[in-house]
Amino acid sequence: MARAQPQFTCTACGAVYRKWTGHCDACGAWNSIVEEAPLAAGPRVLRKGRSIELTRLEAEEAPPPRAQSGLEELDRVLGGGLVAASAILVGGDPGIGKSTLLLQAVAAFAGRGLDCLYISGEEAAAQVRLRAQRLDLAQAPVRLAAETNLRDILATLDAERPDLVIIDSIQTMWLDSVESAPGSVAQVRASAHELVSFAKRRGVSVVLVGHVTKEGQIAGPRVVEHMVDCVLYFEGERGHQFRILRAVKNRFGPADEIGVFEMTGRGLAEVPNPSALFLSERGEAAAGSVVFAGIEGTRPMLTEIQALVAPSTLSMPRRTVVGLDSGRLSTILAVLEARCGIPFAGLDVFLNVAGGMRVQEPAADLAVAAALLSAREDVAIPPETVVFGEISLSGALRPVAQAENRLKEAQKLGFTAAMLPRGAKLEGDAGVVLRRFADLTGFVGEVFGAG
Ligand code: TYD
Ligand code: MG
Repeated sequence: MARAQPQFTCTACGAVYRKWTGHCDACGAWNSIVEEAPLAAGPRVLRKGRSIELTRLEAEEAPPPRAQSGLEELDRVLGGGLVAASAILVGGDPGIGKSTLLLQAVAAFAGRGLDCLYISGEEAAAQVRLRAQRLDLAQAPVRLAAETNLRDILATLDAERPDLVIIDSIQTMWLDSVESAPGSVAQVRASAHELVSFAKRRGVSVVLVGHVTKEGQIAGPRVVEHMVDCVLYFEGERGHQFRILRAVKNRFGPADEIGVFEMTGRGLAEVPNPSALFLSERGEAAAGSVVFAGIEGTRPMLTEIQALVAPSTLSMPRRTVVGLDSGRLSTILAVLEARCGIPFAGLDVFLNVAGGMRVQEPAADLAVAAALLSAREDVAIPPETVVFGEISLSGALRPVAQAENRLKEAQKLGFTAAMLPRGAKLEGDAGVVLRRFADLTGFVGEVFGAG
């Protein structure tokens, strides 16, 4: 029998290569490719395939049964609660609060009658217990183990058959049948595969915790994303107390849904009205500050976008962005220059979303442009005004989805005016004064008296 070929895998995206290379052509990462032990090549038995059973698409299917934790921010991100026998990956930077979130979640599910296990491969049981005490959850009927041997864990799960098990984290798990170190892509992938197929076979819901590392030194959970039903990312800025749980993939619900939490001295607190919180630090109307009326998942959310524009001493002026896409900033600066004749050359630009929130919608374009212009011209946008709209490369303003929901949220929080694209479709009374613009040049001329 031919000797099995060695195989090389990218730890960032999971692409497979025959030879080692320093650069992954699939995802562009450098130094992310490692050698993997080949799959054990057993004797091949050629058998004839059997015919599989086909059913009709139109057959009636009841919605999957779900269990609610009572933590509304979490239940919503899951698509309305935890689906039985589902596999969920919770990824995030180390120290962001994944273990805290999942301990609170598991205690909440246990409080509602689910049989829950929490398996920690990173901390001793005593450490987890101490955290539970700090979170005031020491009385929760959750069973605990500190273990990394997956074979033992699977045997235990098979005997216990809980409703829900948390594996914290997938990078610490190891299978003795795989010849590489814990944390390697091969181990992470094999362990995740075993756990996910166990979940499906035995009807146990499994939550896998995965650390994301920028360097790709230990296997990122990217390779696991394809296997699970639901991928949630827990994100936030280190210096801020806000944490966002974001669904990036969900086979049982809408993706892009977010849940907002606040890290306190006693664990994560839910933030049911994030707009009010994100805007609470806002002072008097100041140049460079603009309120963007956004939509995150199914929920409208107002955030403050801040810009600072200052003369630069550098030959390549700074472009510093926090919470927004830096490519998007370059595009907006280019459109302002080319279509409206407003240059930013020789000026440092700093752009920031207040509160550590990340904004990914193109609908933020007009708010970003307004903040940049307001900072550059030192003219404040009228207070009590929200801004939204997408900017096209021609300088035209494009309408964006759910304009009414954005305006309703703005009205609810005491805003009285909105600046938006002319094409935005609205039915009935918006409840706020509307200032509509067909293109960026018109916006600049009317709001800043230039252009
Ligand atoms: P943790 O859940 O251990 O992060 P992860 O599992 O993602 O690595 O949380 C780590 C941080 O959270 C730690 O720096 C301390 C902070 N923290 C609080 O601020 N309040 C709390 O009640 C708890 C439990 C942790
Ligand atoms: Mg942890």
